[in-house]
Formats: sequence, structure tokens, C-alpha cells
Amino acid sequence: MNPLAVELNDQIKATNPNILEMLSDLGKNLFFPKGILTQSAEAKEKAHKYNATIGIATEKGGPMYLQCFQDKLSGFEPKDIYPYAPPAGKPELRSLWREKMLSENPGLQDKNFSNPIVTNALTHGLSIVGDLFVDDGDHLVLPEMLWGNYNLTFGVCNGAVVKKYKTFTDAGGFNTAAFKECLQATAAEKGKAIVLLNFPNNPSGYTPTVAEGDALVAAIKEVAEGGCNIVAITDDAYFGLFYEDSLKESLFGKLANLHERVLTIKLDGATKEEFVWGFRTGFITFAAGSKDPQPEVLTALEKKTMGIIRAKISNCPHPSQTFVIEALQSPDFLTQKQEKFEIMKGRALKTKAVLSSDKYAASWSYYPFNSGYFMCLKLKRVDAEQLRLHLLDKYGVGAISIGKTDLRIAFSCIAEEDIQELFDLVHQAEQDLA
Ligand SMILES: Cc1ncc(COP(=O)(O)O)c(C=O)c1O
Repeated sequence: MNPLAVELNDQIKATNPNILEMLSDLGKNLFFPKGILTQSAEAKEKAHKYNATIGIATEKGGPMYLQCFQDKLSGFEPKDIYPYAPPAGKPELRSLWREKMLSENPGLQDKNFSNPIVTNALTHGLSIVGDLFVDDGDHLVLPEMLWGNYNLTFGVCNGAVVKKYKTFTDAGGFNTAAFKECLQATAAEKGKAIVLLNFPNNPSGYTPTVAEGDALVAAIKEVAEGGCNIVAITDDAYFGLFYEDSLKESLFGKLANLHERVLTIKLDGATKEEFVWGFRTGFITFAAGSKDPQPEVLTALEKKTMGIIRAKISNCPHPSQTFVIEALQSPDFLTQKQEKFEIMKGRALKTKAVLSSDKYAASWSYYPFNSGYFMCLKLKRVDAEQLRLHLLDKYGVGAISIGKTDLRIAFSCIAEEDIQELFDLVHQAEQDLA
């Protein structure tokens, strides 16, 4: 093992040996090399005469660039667009995102957690977690209703075994008892669990109530107290889009510093929250252990994260980090975001109003939803994939089939005035087949 990795592992072990145990073999081996980037960073500070370190081209004291790019991007300084961004992301963006997290999650105020590290959006954050913490055969605890890409990231790439629990109770609440049972079974079998909590959930569009959130956190604490190491991940891709009476803060706040055996990881980003999907700007943030700050652990995890970023993608795109910084600092940011929130909320509530009609009763029921981009129909009479194909072929309507019974509708991309017609077409297609 590289001496730098040994140093980081010793640093973690001295403060919280449980976290060292949670790391995968790859995670244990990771470190951030003192190579070109470190030497360049030193030169950036001290090389006043000539800086002949990093692999970009310069001209007239700034980065070299083609005018045809700059003509289109003239609102931005070349230095904020063309050079590589630092491996952990632009420091200004990291601190702005931290401030944003704190203002949107007041429960985080007295918690110890790392600075967010910039990722190439949430998918990249998930893959970093897979590389750092998942070994072949480790158990990943997920609800049955899940974002399918988790199977590829954690299952195919990292060899995780996905353990699923029933998402909802018959009464229509989040099935916290099934979650606890699944976690307990994993604890008994493996002594280590990776728990992935995604709210607002894709595909159901559900965020738990405060009481359900508390029950999830209490279950994690109880199982950790029983001796199981838990990596608890919150996938907050759709954070903030809460339209009804649900949790309005990330569960990261309640999970941070919960127990020595719980490492909490928040994945979030601008992609869905700020409607900049193609910018690929996200964040990974760690909170370790119980009440006492564990800065050595957080620093070591940050270095290991920088190591895997360096190894796999070198660094994240610079222009989009600059764009997000400018947006977060814009005096219009919050007002404009609120305007879009109201549009999304209008679509969600309209969807609920349309679905309340008795005329659909023989065709489907629907899963609880109160947030995010999606909702799911639960079909009573026809196969979801058959319906999807028929809808496409005969009515030109696209939806996503999941399993035999579920049809996911992204109300996020249907104008409020079109929602009635959309469901009427789905209904018509369902009747054709029934
Ligand atoms: C639950 C969930 N997490 C993560 C992602 C990926 O987000 P990003 O585009 O930021 O990689 C998605 C995208 O569909 C998602 O639904």
C-alpha cells in the first residue's frame, strides 16, 4: 500500500476505527498523490517569475483561448472558464454551497461535517461512494421503488448486493418498519450496511413525514448501537421540491454525528435543484461519528475522494462551476427559483386533483407523492410495458414502465393545463387494452 494511503488510514483509525472498517479495499488504498497538482498548487502561490508547472497553455498572463469560444462566453473572465478547476472544486463554490446547505437545513447548524467536494453531478457522487465504501458482496439497503441506475453503479460496478424493502405500508405511509427489518437482517448477516435514502424519491415522488424521517433515523441508530457499521447516504437530487406536508430538510442533518458507527454522506447538486441538468455540477459531503468533531477523519476522506476523482476524471468541468457561483451570488437567484418552484408545485397539485376523479378507479390507483419530479400509477388491469408501448404508438404519449404494474409520469415536464389531457389519454389507452 502506498505510504500516503497508510498515513490517511492511520489518521482515520486513530480517531474512529469504525470508519476505516467501512472503507472498501479500493477506499483503503486511495490517497491524493503529491504529484503534478500539488507542485502546481505550490507554484501558483509562490512562482512569481515564471510558472512552468501545469499542462495548460498561457498567453499575456492568462489562459490561451480561441476567440470563437470567448465571443459566446464574453460575460465571463477567461481565467474562470478555460483552465482546470481544482480537484476538489472551486473553493468559492464549495463555501457558497456549504452556506446554502446551512440556510436550507437549519438542523445542520450545530453539526460537524466536511466542506462539500465538487462532483460531476450526483451520478458521479454515487460512483465515488461505491468505489470508496462498497466491496463485492456488501449489502445495499434500498426501497423497492428506486432509481434504476443504482443497480448499475453499485451492483454492476462495485458488486453490491441490493436488499430491498417494501416502500409503502398499506395505509400509504413510508414503510419504516420494513426498512428497519431489512437493515437488521443485513446487520446480522454482514455487520456492515450501506443505506441509501433518496427523498424526494425517484420514481414515487415521495418524501417522508417528519415522524417517518425520525423513525428511519432511530432505526439506523439502534442498529449501529447493536454493533453494525452503517454508511448512510442521502441522495438529495430533488432537494427543495417539497410541495406538501413532508420533511423539508435533508435527513443528512439528523443522521450527521448520530453515532460512532454511522458515516453519513450527502449527495446533492445543482443539476435538478437549479434546473441545470447538463452542467454536471454536484457535491459530496461527509459527516462522521458522534458529537465530537472528527476533523482528521473528514480530511482523510476528502483526500481519498480527491484521489478517486483524480484517478477517474482528473477534475470536474470549470465553466459550469463558474456559472453556478454566479447564479448563487445573483440577487435574483432566490426569486427566480421560487417562481419555478411554484410552477412545479402547481403541476404536482394539479396531478393530484386530476387523479382524484372516480373515473380512473377501475384502471389504477397511485402511490403516495408529495415532492420532486415524478409520480407513479399502479395499474390494476393491464401490463405497464404494454400500456407504455400502446400509449406511444397510438397516442404519442411517453411514460416509463417499471415492473408489471407501475407507470412513472414525470409531471415536471407537462404544463399544468395539459395534465388533464395527459391522464385522459393514459386512461383511454388503458381502456383499449383492458
Ligand atoms: C434519485 C436520483 N439520483 C441521482 C440522479 C442523477 O443526477 P445527476 O444528473 O445529478 O447525475 C438522478 C437522475 O435521474 C436521480 O433520479
